[in-house]
Amino acid sequence: MSTTNGRTALITGAASGIGMETAKWLKDAGVALILLDRSESVRDVASSLSQEGATAQAVVADLSDPSAVADASDRVLSLCGGVDILVNNAGVHPKANGRIASFEEIAIEDWELVFRVNVTAPFLLCQKLLPHMKRKGWGRVINMASRAGRAYSPRAGTHYSASKAALIGMTRKIAGDYAPFGITANCVAPGQIETPLARSSAAHVLLEAARKIPAGRLGTVAEIASAVAYLASEGAGFVNGAVVDINGGETMV
Ligand SMILES: NC(=O)c1ccc[n+]([C@@H]2O[C@H](COP(=O)([O-])OP(=O)(O)OC[C@H]3O[C@@H](n4cnc5c(N)ncnc54)[C@H](O)[C@@H]3O)[C@@H](O)[C@H]2O)c1
Repeated sequence: MSTTNGRTALITGAASGIGMETAKWLKDAGVALILLDRSESVRDVASSLSQEGATAQAVVADLSDPSAVADASDRVLSLCGGVDILVNNAGVHPKANGRIASFEEIAIEDWELVFRVNVTAPFLLCQKLLPHMKRKGWGRVINMASRAGRAYSPRAGTHYSASKAALIGMTRKIAGDYAPFGITANCVAPGQIETPLARSSAAHVLLEAARKIPAGRLGTVAEIASAVAYLASEGAGFVNGAVVDINGGETMV
């Protein structure tokens, strides 16, 4: 597999789950890392990867606030001058008393929060960081969508499903518009993956989910991070506007 040496990546939501695993895979590919999260623990992730030989820095910011996204972009640019690889991974899926909110239960505040984190923050980060990729004539945007943005999912709230479908639409537009500049934009659409976000669902819900997946199990964070590392690599230069479905065969589009 071709490597991604000499590049710099910004990964959002890197304090946990898929984002943290993606940081490890990109570190192994020789990529310098800027890890962003609202959780202070992202500093520990950056320092432990640094101890393993990575170039890794942390930025703490709340992506639900557009002005904080603007500040964070400025901090990222002051740290590295521009990123080559942008992984918009941070995402939220608010529950109602520990279960999926029905269509009629979703409060406008939750609808707006989901869109601010899952769609508006990636939009703003792309706006701010694509010009550098354009100048360099090389770039990779990888947006973390979801199976819920690809097909009906009884396990996802309407706000979450709609936000992930919007993210896929935005990614396709970027893919087409920026392809002439050597930039690709793709989505990864995980099905049920074993992470803290998934484990916030009740145990019987998870068991039932695994039963419906042809593979008979949930996916692992490594199975998602390896796809992100591939999309970020030199070898994926002709993959553009794709949605990589990683769901154990639960949905075949
Ligand atoms: N786990 C799954 O089964 C699954 C399935 C499909 C899609 N996804 C998507 O994968 C991505 C990662 O999910 P995960 O399962 O690793 O979740 P996770 O909860 O383990 O990690 C999400 C990270 O995003 C950060 N984050 C959340 N809101 C933020 C904000 N406002 N500002 C900054 N950081 C914020 C959290 O602090 C956390 O570190 C999400 O976009 C999610 O929608 C996950």
